[in-house]
Amino acid sequence: MAFELPELGYAYDALEPHIDARTMEIHHGKHHAGYTSKLNAAVAGTDLEGKSIEEILSNLDMSNGAVRNNGGGFYNHRLFWEVMSSNGGGEPTGELAEAINAEFGSFEAFKDAFSSAAATQFGSGWAWLCVVKGGGVTVCSTPNQDNPTMPGVTCGNQPILGLDVWEHAYYLNYQNRRPDYINAFFNVIDWAKVSANYAAGK
Ligand SMILES: [Fe+2]
Repeated sequence: MAFELPELGYAYDALEPHIDARTMEIHHGKHHAGYTSKLNAAVAGTDLEGKSIEEILSNLDMSNGAVRNNGGGFYNHRLFWEVMSSNGGGEPTGELAEAINAEFGSFEAFKDAFSSAAATQFGSGWAWLCVVKGGGVTVCSTPNQDNPTMPGVTCGNQPILGLDVWEHAYYLNYQNRRPDYINAFFNVIDWAKVSANYAAGK
């Protein structure tokens, strides 16, 4: 069964003013749709066809550029849409908050570490908060459409929160002001969803 572009759980304008509707429409309807269709083309007729995206990425041949870029793009954007909400923002609670405090000392210190990872990723890429197997969290960034589920990317077990820092994610509204976009992202993070990802992945 072919991969399908997942529907957003909210309208294109739901994240305004932090992420504008036009950016969301192009990002989801063009960019994510493009990764999805190119992923399908890349796995068609190969032994990867029919496998889950998690299975494909965790066993990925990193020299397979088409699957690496488009499979990563498919997975990364799916997570990105899921961890945002019009009712987002604030801080996590419960065991995720405890894990963040244990690793970084405070939510503010975590925010600084995540924002720094996002701001200093040169060129296109992603910033991640990942769950560590057995409990705990860590922060990192990856270039292009790579992610921590791929072979050789050492950043915890799997991402539970991701921020797209490709220019296509923010340029219409923020132009070159990536730090402003990163700051705005914290107003739309759905911490309940991130907490559920943590509980499922630890
Ligand atoms: Fe993107």
